[in-house]
Order: sequence, then C-alpha cells, then structure tokens
Amino acid sequence: MHDKTERMTSVSAEDGPQPQRRTSSFDASAFIARNLRLLPVPGLEDIQLYTAHSGSRLSRLGGANPEAPAPYWAYGWGGGAVLARYIAENPHLVRGRRVLDLGTGSGLVAIAAAKAGATSVVATDIDGNAIAAARLNASANGVAIDLIHADLLDGPPPAVDIVLAGDLFYDEALAKRALAFLETCRAGGIDVLIGDPYRVPLPTQRLHCIAEYSVSDFGLCSDGGEVRAGVFSLASF
Ligand SMILES: C[S@@+](CC[C@H](N)C(=O)[O-])C[C@H]1O[C@@H](n2cnc3c(N)ncnc32)[C@H](O)[C@@H]1O
Repeated sequence: MHDKTERMTSVSAEDGPQPQRRTSSFDASAFIARNLRLLPVPGLEDIQLYTAHSGSRLSRLGGANPEAPAPYWAYGWGGGAVLARYIAENPHLVRGRRVLDLGTGSGLVAIAAAKAGATSVVATDIDGNAIAAARLNASANGVAIDLIHADLLDGPPPAVDIVLAGDLFYDEALAKRALAFLETCRAGGIDVLIGDPYRVPLPTQRLHCIAEYSVSDFGLCSDGGEVRAGVFSLASF
C-alpha cells in the first residue's frame, strides 16, 4: 500500500508565477469562477465542478499566508467520488432525509445527496475557500445546500439523519477526531457513511465495507488513472 498520507498533504497551490499579495477584499468566488473550469465529474457526468487546471494559479488564493490550507476543493478525490457514486446509485439512502456532508471540499458529496432527493443538505468545511467553491458548485448544479464554515468534530451530534464523510481520513490526527465524532453520531442513532480509497489513516478495523468502485483520485493518480475505493459504514461491536 502506498503512503497515501504524504501524497495527500503534498497537494499545494501550484507552480506558475509567484502570488500577488492577497488583500482583505479578495473574492474567492470570483477567483474560482474566473480561473477554474466547470467540468463533469468522471463517472458522474451529470455533476459539474469547478476544477483546477495548469493555468489556475491557485497559489494566489493563499496570498502570503504560509498556513493557508491546501486547495483540496479544487481537485477530485477518490473518497468523495466513491461516496457520490454510491449515493447516485442508491438514492433511497438519502431521499427524504436530512444530510450532513462533513469536510465537503468541492461539495461533490453534498451535491450528489441533494440531487438524490435529500430533504436538506448541510455541508461543512474548515477552509473558507472550500465553502466558496461548494457554493458555486451547488449553484452550477442547480441544488440548494446550506454551507457552514466550521469544525464540528468536537461538538455534539448534529440534527441530521445521516452523516457522509468523503475522504476525510487522510491525516492521522484528523482521522482520530473524525472517527470519534462519527462514532458519537452513530451512537446517537445517526447513520454514517464514509468514502475512502484506503488511505493509511483509514481505521479499517472499525469499518464495514459495503461497496467498492474504481474511481479517479488526484492524490494517488494525478495522471487520470483510477484507484480502488470503498464505501464504509461504522461497524457495531
Ligand atoms: C481530501 S478533501 C475531500 C473533500 C470532499 N469530501 C471530497 O471527497 O471531494 C478533505 C476536506 O476536508 C476538509 N477538512 C479537514 N478537516 C476538517 C474538519 N475538521 N472539519 C471539516 N472539514 C475538514 C478539508 O478542508 C478538505 O476540504
């Protein structure tokens, strides 16, 4: 198995000319709409997302801030891809239900849930640029999603029926926190589904694999190839 953690965290703003300084009036939505391309998602062609390309110059989003989060929302990840496909093929899982998409990134999983007939979809991310991207992507796909720029992992279970987590297990510390939160949700009677291409921190011993697909993943095959990815529920012991 590859060291997927390292490859995930190596995603950074990209090459190209060095950034101009970001000002307080920087408009992430305008930047995304201008510099990324609205493209169909491989395997889910009825969903389109603003996607980075070689001329996107994402380094400008972080400005001079070395702590700026990596622009994960600009790329396709196996965990979100597998979960979105599973929901598209099994819409009854979310139809008529309240959904939370944890770590929404581009908003792919949230959009798939909304298109599948969820009553409401809340999507959260700690990256404000992801929130801007997910908002644009939801609008481009004609669905309504409530976006929250926050870290919910240390809080109580949300008032939803099902929590979806696409590709959130890419970092050991985050994986530990996410698992604890999702187990609390499960104990509170909330369904939990996780999508992941078997990254190293994925706690497979606590999970039950219910489906597998071959999907594209920017971190593991940026050349456009595919990886095996699973949809998991939390095992009950
Ligand atoms: C690899 S991306 C996956 C995005 C999307 N779910 C997908 O599969 O396409 C992981 C996302 O989780 C977000 N994230 C990381 N820690 C988080 C936290 N504690 N709460 C919410 N989102 C978080 C990151 O900002 C990033 O957008």
